[in-house]
Parts: sequence; C-alpha cells; structure tokens
Amino acid sequence: MSGMANTLPIEITVNGRRRALRVAVHHTLLDVLRDDLRLTGTKECCLVGECGACTVMVDGRIVDSCLMLAVEADGAEILTVEGLAENGRLSPLQQAFLDKGAVQCGFCTPGQLMASHALLEANPNPSLDDIQEGLAGNLCRCGCYVQITDAVLSVAEGGHR
Ligand code: FES
Ligand code: FES
Repeated sequence: MSGMANTLPIEITVNGRRRALRVAVHHTLLDVLRDDLRLTGTKECCLVGECGACTVMVDGRIVDSCLMLAVEADGAEILTVEGLAENGRLSPLQQAFLDKGAVQCGFCTPGQLMASHALLEANPNPSLDDIQEGLAGNLCRCGCYVQITDAVLSVAEGGHR
C-alpha cells in the first residue's frame, strides 16, 4: 500500500486524448507530461515560473506547468506543443518560426510557440507591443526575440495563411 499512499487518480485530456492516471501528489503537471506521458516537447528549465520553457495551455489559459500540481489539473483540457501540428503538418505558427529563423538552440521554442498560440487565439491581429507583452514571460537565452516577434507578426498579418 505504501506506494499508493501519496498518489491520487486524475483524468486529463491532453491534445484531445483522454488520459486516466495516478499521480504523486507532489508532482507537477510538467513532471506528469514529461515523465508519465512522455511528452517531452514541454521543457524543464527554471522550475520557478520565470522562464516560460514549460508553458502549456490548460482550459484555454497559459500556464507554467512547473508551477501547477498535476492534481490541480484534474478534469482539465491541456494543449502541449505536440498538439499544434495537424495530420503531421506544422501549424502556420510553427512554420513561421522556422521561416523567420526564430529557432536557434530550440530549447525555448515549445514555450514560445504555446505562448504565441494563446496570444493569437485571444487576439488574431496583435501589434508588435501586444506580442512583446504577450511573450514577456518567455525567455530566450539565444536572444532570438526579434525573429520570434517577426514570426508571430507574419502569422498575425496572414503571411503564412
Ligand atoms: S521551467 Fe517553468 S517557468 Fe521555467
Ligand atoms: S532558441 Fe535557444 S533559448 Fe531560445
């Protein structure tokens, strides 16, 4: 029994697929996505909510998955970077990141994509300021900020539609 003592059952929908699992009560949503569900697109970095590498959408809201306990996500709909492509085709936003050279080491990219995706869902035609504000929580150690905002702008302006 001891192995079960500190676990709870949860049901989450991840990228459209319903998953029922038992999670350790102290594990974060990030832990569960990466370790239990093997969705390693979501990155683990600062673990204190400062870098945005672990950004996912939970019930339509942007969340630092390193700060959310998996049990808190019970019943939620989660979208990770793996859920952006459709039928094996990159989303327009993903394609724009490639075309604009917004991916250098790529470590921040999943988080940047998720934050950008959420931004565009909330505001399909953001200004440069809106984009900079929307992505302020996502750090890029390679300094690709100009290319990243360019990529988002190009999608916002319909350049990749
Ligand atoms: S790893 Fe979650 S914000 Fe940095
Ligand atoms: S591309 Fe390297 S951290 Fe952003």
